[in-house]
Amino acid sequence: MSLLRTKPINADMHCDTGLRRCLTAFDLTLLGIGAIIGAGIFVLTGIAAATRAGPAIVLSFVVSGFACAFSALSYAELASSIGGCGSAYGYAYAGLGELVAWIIGWDLILEYGVAVAVVAIGWSGYANNALTAAGLHIPAALLKGPIDGGIVNLPAALIVLALSGLLAAGVRQSARFNAIMVLVKVLAIATFIAVAVPNVQPHNWHPFMPFGWHGVMGGAALIFFAYIGFDAVSTAAEEAVNPTRDLPIGILVSLAVCTVIYIVVAGLLTGIVPYGTLNVSSPVAESMLRLGYRWASAVVAAGAIAGLTTVMLVLYYGLTRIFLSMSRDGLLPPVFSAIHPRTHTPLRVILASGLLIAAVAGFTPIGDVAELVNIGTLAAFVLVCCGVIVLRRTRPQLKRPFRTPWSPAIPLLGVAFCLYLMASLPLITWMRFVIWLVIGLAIYFGYSRRHSSLNA
Ligand code: ALA
Repeated sequence: MSLLRTKPINADMHCDTGLRRCLTAFDLTLLGIGAIIGAGIFVLTGIAAATRAGPAIVLSFVVSGFACAFSALSYAELASSIGGCGSAYGYAYAGLGELVAWIIGWDLILEYGVAVAVVAIGWSGYANNALTAAGLHIPAALLKGPIDGGIVNLPAALIVLALSGLLAAGVRQSARFNAIMVLVKVLAIATFIAVAVPNVQPHNWHPFMPFGWHGVMGGAALIFFAYIGFDAVSTAAEEAVNPTRDLPIGILVSLAVCTVIYIVVAGLLTGIVPYGTLNVSSPVAESMLRLGYRWASAVVAAGAIAGLTTVMLVLYYGLTRIFLSMSRDGLLPPVFSAIHPRTHTPLRVILASGLLIAAVAGFTPIGDVAELVNIGTLAAFVLVCCGVIVLRRTRPQLKRPFRTPWSPAIPLLGVAFCLYLMASLPLITWMRFVIWLVIGLAIYFGYSRRHSSLNA
């Protein structure tokens, strides 16, 4: 049996899988913004500025932004040509073979699953602050898991379970909720910008690069987390009304909007307070407090809660769709392939993954491993960029409504930037990633390869 087992590309791009096709280009763009803006900008930017890059965190955002832009262009081409039953996993299956597809799918499960648990823990911190401000006190033992000396991180577990309910109810309901929350977080960021602009003190930008280029790259590898999520748009392929046109729009527009927002916010944040003061859990809200704007701090905190909620919602959504595809292809047990006839959602996947993520968020200190999400995502981006180059050679006739400009230069730059960022991550992250891959390969060769629907 050959190692490179590819799946035929569906000619009409509209496979009917029981999911409901109701998402427009606008919905997809909002899903992208929903998935992108969250813990990265509201939490990690401050930590990265204080401990790695200083005010040059702006450059870190530019470097990571390039890696994402090149990858997003590659995503857009594959989404436009293979869109109907898509996601990076689906693209790889068509272009690079089953083993690579499995690795991407396994990486994406890591990316989305761990990211949701990590963000749930950040959400718990913000929600607790808000409840405390409102006079409601949660016992300390219910705010951290047993390894950290508590019993369970109850808010983290509960928010994941609540999102399970929303996702189970239907994609339309989830998209509507996402749209409202995106509005809240964008308004919060607009408030921050409006308050910050007149309060910039240029001397805060000096020294600009206190930790040198090494610091800028370390910062870029960390705040890459802030960009994660635009790729989740591609997992909505089977629920998009016009996937080959609208997925590229959703991916590229959401990334472009967020990149501009990030660079502006990072520049202002380091301009209004000394970068050394930003190593706190809610740096954007605290910077407003430092300037004496209590109301703006509350607005930003509300935006952060909304932002973290949509990130979890959309990444969790992406996780369920990847899982569903892999199960339908026989690579994961078929029990997860079922679609509920009334809600048109993969109910079993939603419930099983929700319970698992809630348990991880509630009982483990997973909040410390944000960089593991980055390395998994970067690896998937590398493979997507390679997919463009390979498919241009192996399937030159494929209809490509969107073509990555200057190919293969752009996909190759995507590979180079992503590898450079991966190389800037700490050794411990690499070790965790390798362990994850080894487990994945064991499952593939032990189960998936034998049960693959390609064998039928
Ligand atoms: N980009 C997402 C965030 O920053 C994962 O929370």
